Formats: sequence, structure tokens, C-alpha cells
Amino acid sequence: MKFTLVLSAVITALLMAVAPSSAREPLNTKDPVEKAIKARQSYYQVVSFNAGPLFGMAKGKVAYDAKKAQEFANNLLALTSMKNSAMWPKGSDNVAKKGKTRALPAIWDTYPKVVEASKAFGAAVKQLASVAGNGADALKPAVGALGKSCGGCHKPFRAKEF
Ligand code: HEC
Repeated sequence: MKFTLVLSAVITALLMAVAPSSAREPLNTKDPVEKAIKARQSYYQVVSFNAGPLFGMAKGKVAYDAKKAQEFANNLLALTSMKNSAMWPKGSDNVAKKGKTRALPAIWDTYPKVVEASKAFGAAVKQLASVAGNGADALKPAVGALGKSCGGCHKPFRAKEF
């Protein structure tokens, strides 16, 4: 019993040693900067939660449902109407807060380029929300444009790993 415990502790330690350094580190939400990081990551989780089924419907992996498609699109519209600049304080990039965020310093260094990416996202969502309930054929190109707008920001501004 004791031996098994020791052994499992050793195995755990070994596994931790080889675990990728890209693992997300916990945020200290008493720190206002890390609080902001948590808020924006949570924001994108909600974005992703609503976009996911739409990507699925566009690919034919999820059955098209006009009512649901419109609801998810409307949620995205509500999300893109938010003013989120407080979620992006200086010093919240992945150099200053290593392991806690994937936000690249380019967001601040090339400002206001990120605003353009954000506007493109807003425009894609607006277009999507105007056609989401009009059938799968109308949904597809709009979802394609939405996906492009996510990538258009992630590529220059989000690191692949933590
Ligand atoms: C204007 C830029 C921008 C747009 C547009 C954008 N993202 Fe992101 N996204 C980011 C950045 C930057 C991060 C990293 C945030 C961090 O780690 O602090 C991120 C993080 C995420 C995450 C991970 C959140 C977490 O828990 O760490 C998901 C999921 C995500 N985005 C999905 C999407 C999807 C889906 C879309 C499009 C429908 C999208 N994003 C559009 C910039 C953007």
C-alpha cells in the first residue's frame, strides 16, 4: 500500500516533469490585470460556445435549425456590441504574463490594427445575423466569413500555445 503510494507519487512527478510548458497557469484574480485576462478569455469562450454550433451547421455536422441558428447569431451580435477595451490593459500580454495568456504584444505594439480585426469580426457577425435563419445555403458563406474573421485576429494577435 505504502509502496504503491510512493510509486504513484513518483509517476506523477515524472509526468509533471514531461508535461508541456504550454499548459495554462492559474490566474490570480485578485490581480486586476489577471482579472481582465480571465474576463476576456471567458468572453471568447462564450463567443466560441455560440459560434461552434453554427460552424457545425455550416459543415453539415449539426442539423440546420433556423431558430437555433438565428439565436446563436443574435447572441454573437450581442457579444460584438460590447465595448471590451477594459479587458485589454497594458501589461497583460504573454510576455508580461507568461503562461497565463496567449495575447501577443503585437496587440498593443501595432495598435490600432487589432481594432480593424475586431471590426471585421463585428461585420461578419452582422452579416451572419441577417441571414442565419434563411436556410443552410444562406448560412454557409456567412459562417465561412465568420471563421475567417476569427483567424484574421488569431493569426497576428494570439499565440498558438500558453
Ligand atoms: C479581435 C481579435 C479576435 C477575434 C476577432 C477573435 N478572437 Fe479569439 N482570441 C483572441 C485573443 C487575443 C485571444 C487570447 C486571449 C488571452 O489568452 O488572453 C483569444 C482567445 C480565444 C479562445 C480561447 C479562450 C481561453 O479560454 O483562453 C477561443 C476559444 C477563441 N478565442 C475563439 C474565437 C472564435 C471562435 C472567434 C470567432 C468567432 C474569435 N475567437 C475571434 C482574439 C480574437
